[in-house]
Amino acid sequence: MNSSSSSSTKDSGEQLPLRHLLGIAGLSLTDLVLLIQNAELMCEVLQRDIKKVPTLRGRSVINAFLEPSTRTRVSFELAAKRLSADAVNISASGSSISKGESLLDTAHTLQAMVPDVLVVRHECSGAPHFLARFLPNTAIINGGDGTHEHPTQALLDMLTLKQHFSEMPTGRIIAIVGDVVHSRVARSNILAHLLLGNEVRLVGPPTLVPKELERSYGVGAKVKVFHRLAEGVFGADVIMCLRMQKERMIGHFVPDLDEYSRNYGISSRVLKNNAPTAVIMHPGPLNRGVEITTEVADSSASLITNQVTSGIAVRMAALHVLIANRGGSQKVE
Ligand code: NCD
Repeated sequence: MNSSSSSSTKDSGEQLPLRHLLGIAGLSLTDLVLLIQNAELMCEVLQRDIKKVPTLRGRSVINAFLEPSTRTRVSFELAAKRLSADAVNISASGSSISKGESLLDTAHTLQAMVPDVLVVRHECSGAPHFLARFLPNTAIINGGDGTHEHPTQALLDMLTLKQHFSEMPTGRIIAIVGDVVHSRVARSNILAHLLLGNEVRLVGPPTLVPKELERSYGVGAKVKVFHRLAEGVFGADVIMCLRMQKERMIGHFVPDLDEYSRNYGISSRVLKNNAPTAVIMHPGPLNRGVEITTEVADSSASLITNQVTSGIAVRMAALHVLIANRGGSQKVE
C-alpha cells in the first residue's frame, strides 16, 4: 500500500492492507479516503463526554521523537491513550542515541519489547522507511522524516478541509507559500492534493521554491510555481503558510526576514486584494510576523486550531488501521 511498506496498492483490483504509514507517496486514493473516514469515526469518539474507547486495549505504541516536536508528539500520545493503548515516549536526548547507539540498534532494542506500532520522527529523510525494512513485525508510522514526508500532517490537513468544505477537497486551488523546498509537510500535502484532484500552487522566492518543482511530481501534474505572491495566491481556496525551516538550511536562502516577510508574508491586505474567500492553514510552529501576521493567524479564516484538533483523530485512525491490519484491534464502539 505504501510504496515503501511491505505491501503495494492500486486504485482498483486487489489491495493489500496497509502495514506501515511511511508517506502519502504510494497511498492510493482509496487508502486516503478510508483513513479520513476512519478519522471521522474518531472525531465522534472525541466529542463524547468520555473520550476513550477500549479498541486498542493491550496494545502498545512507542513514540520515538528524535527531533523536536510539540503537536505531533502530544497528539500521537493522546491518540494512543484515547484508544486505550499503552504509549511510551522517547526523545533523542533522553535515549541511548545520545550515547552513540545507532538508529538500527535502538530500533532492534525497542522491537524486542514487542510494541505494536513505532512512530518515528527523525532528521534523516528515509529513516522510517529504513526501519520498516528491518522491523517487519512492528508497524512503523512516519512522524516526519527530514525534508521528505509527514503523512499524518497531510491527512489531518485533508480532514480539516473536508470538515470545512463539508466534502473532500477536490477541484480546489491550494496555494502553499514559503519554504517549500525544506518542508516535509509541503511534500506530503502536494501528494495528497494531487491524489484528490486539486490544483497546487507553490509560492515563494526561487531559492525556496525552485521552478524545477513543477516537474518533480510527474508530467501533467497540476503543480505550478509562482515567485510573486499576489499571482500565486490569486483566487486560492486554501492558503497554507510554511515556517522557514532554518534547522534544515545549509547557507542563506533569503537576504533577511523583514524583506522576506514584506514579499511573502500572508497579511490581511494580501488576502483582501487577492484571495478574499481563502481559508488559512499552517502546520505550526508559527513564526508570527514572518510568514503570517497575527491578525491573519487569529482571524475567522484561520483553520490552524482545527488542524491541531484533527491531528488527534487522524493519528487515532492511523494507529487503529495499522493495528487492525495486523489482526490486533477491536471495533470502535
Ligand atoms: C512541521 C514539521 O515538523 O515538519 N510541524 C509539525 O509537525 N506540525 C512543520 C515545521 O516544523 O515547520
